[in-house]
Amino acid sequence: MSQEAQKSSVITIEHAPEYAGEVVTVRGWLYNLRESGKLLFPIFRDGTGVMQGVISLKEQPQAFEALKGLTQESSVIVTGMIQAEPRAPGGCEIHIQAVEVVQKVPESSPYPIQLKEHGVDFLLDQRHLWIRTPRQAAILRIRAEAIRAARNYMDAEGYTLTDAPVFTPAACEGTTTLFEVNYIDDQKAYLTQSGQLYVEATAAALGKVYTFGPTFRAEKSKTRRHLTEFWMLEPEAAFAHLADMMDLGEGLVSAIVQSVVKNRARELAALGRDVSKLEKIAAPFPRVTYDEAVKVLQTAGNPTKWGDDFGGDEETLLSKEFDKPVIIHRYPAAMKAFYMATDSERPELSLSFDMIAPEGFGEIIGGGERQSDYETLVRRIRESSLPEEAFQWYLDLRRYGSVPHAGFGLGLERTVAWICGTEHIREVIPFPRMLYRVYP
Ligand code: 4AD
Ligand code: MG
Repeated sequence: MSQEAQKSSVITIEHAPEYAGEVVTVRGWLYNLRESGKLLFPIFRDGTGVMQGVISLKEQPQAFEALKGLTQESSVIVTGMIQAEPRAPGGCEIHIQAVEVVQKVPESSPYPIQLKEHGVDFLLDQRHLWIRTPRQAAILRIRAEAIRAARNYMDAEGYTLTDAPVFTPAACEGTTTLFEVNYIDDQKAYLTQSGQLYVEATAAALGKVYTFGPTFRAEKSKTRRHLTEFWMLEPEAAFAHLADMMDLGEGLVSAIVQSVVKNRARELAALGRDVSKLEKIAAPFPRVTYDEAVKVLQTAGNPTKWGDDFGGDEETLLSKEFDKPVIIHRYPAAMKAFYMATDSERPELSLSFDMIAPEGFGEIIGGGERQSDYETLVRRIRESSLPEEAFQWYLDLRRYGSVPHAGFGLGLERTVAWICGTEHIREVIPFPRMLYRVYP
C-alpha cells in the first residue's frame, strides 16, 4: 500500500457519495467481478450498500493482480478515489489504488449463492449466507429501522418497556398453537404466545407499558404470513379503553412507516418499493365495525356470514377497499380470546380490534379492552377449558385494584413485510422459523 493509501479514512459505502474526489478505504466483500482485458470492474458490498470499482492494469499493476480472478465473497480492504458516477448504483464509483485480500474464497469450494436465480428452499438452507445479498441486507436494515421507530414512539408516548418471559405456565392465545417444553424436573412449560398477560400485570404496576420480544405459535398453517417464531410489540395501559388503543395503534404504525420512508429511502429503492403508497400512511386510519365489514365483504360477493372469522382472503378483500391500514373493531365475542371485554350495549360483541395492512398484507395488529371483572374472567377461563390454577396470578390483577385496561400486539414481521412489499414474511426476519424449518 502507498503512503497515501494508508492515511485514507475508512468509510462505509452508504456514505461514499459524500467523499467524491477523496481517497478512502472501504472494507467488505467482493460481490461481483467483471473482467475486460486490461480493465477490471469489481462490485464491492459492505453491508451498507454496493459500490462499483474500476482498475486498470497499466495504472495499478499490483492491485490489478490482487483482484484479477478473485473469487466471489472474498473479503477485501480496498483503497481508492471516489468519483461521482450518476449511472452507477449508489451514484459513485471507486477508482482503485490498493487492494488487500483478507481471505480468498478457495476456487475449489466457491461461494454457493451465485448471481442467478435460485430456488427459495435452497436459499433458505443457505440463509446464513443469503442475508449477504443486497436485497436481504436492505430488508434487515428496514426491520431495524422499524424497531427503532416503534421503540422511540412508545417511549415518547410515555410507555415503559417491561419485558415478558418466554417460558410460561399456560396459554394466552388458545391451546392449539402451544409449544410445550420440558422444563426442569419434568415440569411442563410453554413458549409464550404473547406477552399480554404479563404486561397487564406491569401496567397495574407502572401505568403505561409495553413489551417487545419473540413470541411462538405452533402454527400448522404454511402460509406466507405465518412464522412459528415472530416478534411482537405489545402496549398495555391502565385506565385505557378500546378507542385509546385504536388511536395508539394508528399513531404507532404511522410513525414506523414514516420513519422508514425518511431514513431508509435507499433500501426501499433497492427493493423497488412504491414509496408513494407508504407516504400516504398517516393517522387517522379508516375504522369499520365488524358488522360493517361483513356487509362490505358480502357486497363484494364474498360468502362470509355474521359470526365468521375473517381469513386471509377476506382480509385482502377488505384491505383493497382502502389505501391505508383499516381498523376493524367489535368482533363477535365468541371468536375472540377469553380475556376480551364485552360491549355493555351489545354483549355478543367484544371490545376488540384488528388492524389490516393495505395491499393484502393481512392483520398487523390485534388487541382490545380486557375483561377487568373477576367473576366474568373466571367464568371465561372455565368456558375456555383453561387450567384455572395457572391463572391465579392473573386473576390477582382483578382481585387487587382492578381497573379498565387495554392493549394490543403489533406483529413486527407482518408490518415489515408490508413496508418492504415482500411476498413472504420469511424474508424479513434474519433466521425464519417455520412449520418445517429450524435450520440454519
Ligand atoms: O392477534 P394476535 O394473536 O394477538 C395477541 O396475541 C394479543 N395477545 C396481543 C395483545 O393484545 N397484546 O397477534 C398479534 C399480532 C397479529 O396481528 C399478527 O400481526 C402477529 O401478531 N402474528 C403473527 N405474525 C407472524 N406469524 C404468526 N404466526 C403470527 N400470529 C400472530
Ligand atoms: Mg389476531
